[in-house]
Amino acid sequence: MGKLIVIASGKGGVGKTTLTANLAASLAERGKRVLAIDCDVYLKNLDIVFGMSDDHIWDSGDAFAGRCTVEDAIVHVNGKERLYLLSAPLKAPEDPDGLSEFLLKTAQQLLSENEYDYVLCDCPSGIGRGVDCFFVRGSHVIVVATPDVTSIHDAERVAATAYEKSAEVSMVVNRVRAKAIENGTAPNIDEIIDRVCVKLLGLIPEDKKTAEALNAEQLVIDTKRARSKRAYMNIAARTDGEFTELYKFW
Ligand SMILES: Nc1ncnc2c1ncn2[C@@H]1O[C@H](COP(=O)(O)OP(=O)(O)OP(=O)(O)O)[C@@H](O)[C@H]1O
Ligand SMILES: [Mg+2]
Repeated sequence: MGKLIVIASGKGGVGKTTLTANLAASLAERGKRVLAIDCDVYLKNLDIVFGMSDDHIWDSGDAFAGRCTVEDAIVHVNGKERLYLLSAPLKAPEDPDGLSEFLLKTAQQLLSENEYDYVLCDCPSGIGRGVDCFFVRGSHVIVVATPDVTSIHDAERVAATAYEKSAEVSMVVNRVRAKAIENGTAPNIDEIIDRVCVKLLGLIPEDKKTAEALNAEQLVIDTKRARSKRAYMNIAARTDGEFTELYKFW
């Protein structure tokens, strides 16, 4: 059976959606069948990062309301073999908690039917019913943090919540600036691991190509000379169970 991967964070804007999209595409490049679900049911973004905002008629809200089937709402991501997207509604849902539960059940059912090797859930930030419901036994929760004290503090709480629910938990530290660590203006990686107390899945460098790619409706892993490309590939290999050294870019 395939694996449910949940991307969560304490603080907002730390790079969950960017990681979801680039990790999903990297796993698909490794030959896996992957579905990415936008679980941010109030503020969807995943379709934009995939450059797919105009390419779907139905969304998960339509499937939840019975206006279409789940299969109708899942779309193939342009130019990407084996990669699929289930987008969230454009307008605020009437029953957000019901929709989140529906997304979890949908992911679990598709995995049990071996439709996908991986289903990635891009969560909203913080803790609460729309996030915690995805922290289930058998899921792999990736907590994303940036190297600053508030983000690390909140990541610690999210990781603890995921542990309590018996999920496997790991952490990705995004927007790492080697110079800031070297000159002591950002916490070093060992301090972050000690604080959050979970295994480190990967480090992603600060990469100005990320915003450029977003504005060009491209994934950053598909842009030339992106510093972060190898980081996403490394995280995909480790997520996929391949023994790979942590990618250190300094
Ligand atoms: N490694 C990086 N280097 C530079 N910019 C980055 C990096 N990762 C993400 N960003 C930028 O940070 C911003 C927030 O990213 P993103 O939308 O993925 O965060 P998020 O955690 O999903 O936010 P939210 O909590 O609002 O859902 C975006 O503008 C994105 O381009
Ligand atoms: Mg997001």
